[in-house]
Amino acid sequence: MRILGLSGSLRAGSHNSTLLRAAADLLPDTAELTLFAHLRALPPYDEDADLALAPAAVEVLRSQIAAADALLIATPEYNGSVPGVLKNALDWASRPFPDNVLRAKPSAVIGASTGLFGAVWAQAEIRKALRIAGADVLGDELAVGLAGDAFTAAGALRDPHVAGALAALVRRLVEHTQAPCLDAAPHFDGPGRDRTCARRIMSPLL
Ligand code: FNR
Repeated sequence: MRILGLSGSLRAGSHNSTLLRAAADLLPDTAELTLFAHLRALPPYDEDADLALAPAAVEVLRSQIAAADALLIATPEYNGSVPGVLKNALDWASRPFPDNVLRAKPSAVIGASTGLFGAVWAQAEIRKALRIAGADVLGDELAVGLAGDAFTAAGALRDPHVAGALAALVRRLVEHTQAPCLDAAPHFDGPGRDRTCARRIMSPLL
């Protein structure tokens, strides 16, 4: 199973990117996680540029999400909300709506911040945006607060309880992604069509 990891930070030493690499190390052997490496290259969302052939970096984003079985997003929190670059990526990925690459995509959101609360507000907003885009979002939360001290030099989580919670979360994401969909709706015709599962689509827009 292929999981695409999307860090909401462009920073070279990002705690959220470190958190995704820690998640990759905790995955079962049947799954692998690749980090999306082109967040910086995405232009600001522009509906006029969202044509049949979108900007190159957008095509890369959409094709990598489409090729992944599941999505794991790690978000920082900026001023109590979502980093603009990450929201921008989700806005590009959400189009064309409703048959976008996020539709019914099993997804989970985690976060790290140097504050006490581990980006919980940003995580909640990313879950909301993913659901509105039509993704199949786990309710699980993993908040790594005081992130400056949370990782060893090798990038592992220092606190065994937090590491255990991350391992459990990625296990649930894998199990959820593998779970059969009993009410698959064959009339859906978008990317990820063979995974499309009506009960997993929570968007109020659909
Ligand atoms: C922050 N930071 C921050 N932290 C937090 O817990 N709540 C917040 O609202 C904010 N707001 C905020 C705004 C801006 C503009 C910056 C640059 C930073 C601190 C943030 O958690 C810290 O920089 C993290 O290390 C960012 O994540 P990465 O880059 O390490 O993944």
